[in-house]
Amino acid sequence: MSLLITSIDESGICLIKINRPDKLNAMNVDVANELIKFLNEIENNETVKVIVITGVGNKAFSAGADIEYMYKISADQSEQYAKLGQLLTTTVENIKQPTIAAINGFALGGGCELALSCDIRLASNNAQMGQPEVTLGIPPGWGGTQRLMKIIGMAKSKELIFSGRLVNANEAQSIGLVNDIVEPDLLLDQSIKMAKIIAANSVMGVRMSKIAINKGSNTDLNTGLNIELLAWRNCFTHEDRKNRMEEFVNKSKKPK
Ligand code: COA
Repeated sequence: MSLLITSIDESGICLIKINRPDKLNAMNVDVANELIKFLNEIENNETVKVIVITGVGNKAFSAGADIEYMYKISADQSEQYAKLGQLLTTTVENIKQPTIAAINGFALGGGCELALSCDIRLASNNAQMGQPEVTLGIPPGWGGTQRLMKIIGMAKSKELIFSGRLVNANEAQSIGLVNDIVEPDLLLDQSIKMAKIIAANSVMGVRMSKIAINKGSNTDLNTGLNIELLAWRNCFTHEDRKNRMEEFVNKSKKPK
């Protein structure tokens, strides 16, 4: 059985489903490796404009790193596993295409960290999210200690990580952890609808925005503004920008 179910539709929306529902889509080494390999393959596929990531079934986006595996491994092996998880979340964060996490249930530990590395998070109203690692004797290790605070702030991030407490969809939205909440049956449709709105926009405009926001969030304001300037200028060398502005200008010149 394939650990990922993937498809690309005619609008350029790539849907990736983690397919390990009997283990609540927990990401063992094979799942993480397959995800990285697939993301690397589609990054340079120009037909792919937006990526939606979700889990198979209606119970879990992903219940995180594989506890049965972690139970058995040495500190050296744990380092390799965390490096793999960090490579996965960094690959998702930096991939050229915008990413949407469609959170269809539990997003815990590495599952929450995978969602944090996506650009946008939509959750079904039965979603539960959190970083329960401390209940297992470890801190988050796939980027959660860094990305969660950037998204929800340091105080709330420390509260959730230190307590291991899960938040439901309403609380997740109220603290800015998810962008929006929808009925479980509508989650995929709504995620794809949002993906199509993004896909209809200029690929370069969106891509340069993503780079400027991501890189800028890791630096000081002046450096961030310089990155924004480069991103802006870069778009002026592309036909797409010219065509889109030309269309606007010509339209507004037409008699009403
Ligand atoms: N790693 C490995 N297996 C996992 C898993 C994980 N992170 N999360 C769930 N599973 C497995 C369970 O062992 C069980 O397998 P089994 O049927 O072979 O026994 C199966 O998925 C279903 O999980 P179960 O615990 O029976 O479902 P539940 O509805 O009673 O509880 C959770 C759901 C999410 C509350 C519970 O599975 C859980 O706490 N999971 C661990 C979450 C976690 O701590 N993640 C962070 C890891 S660092």
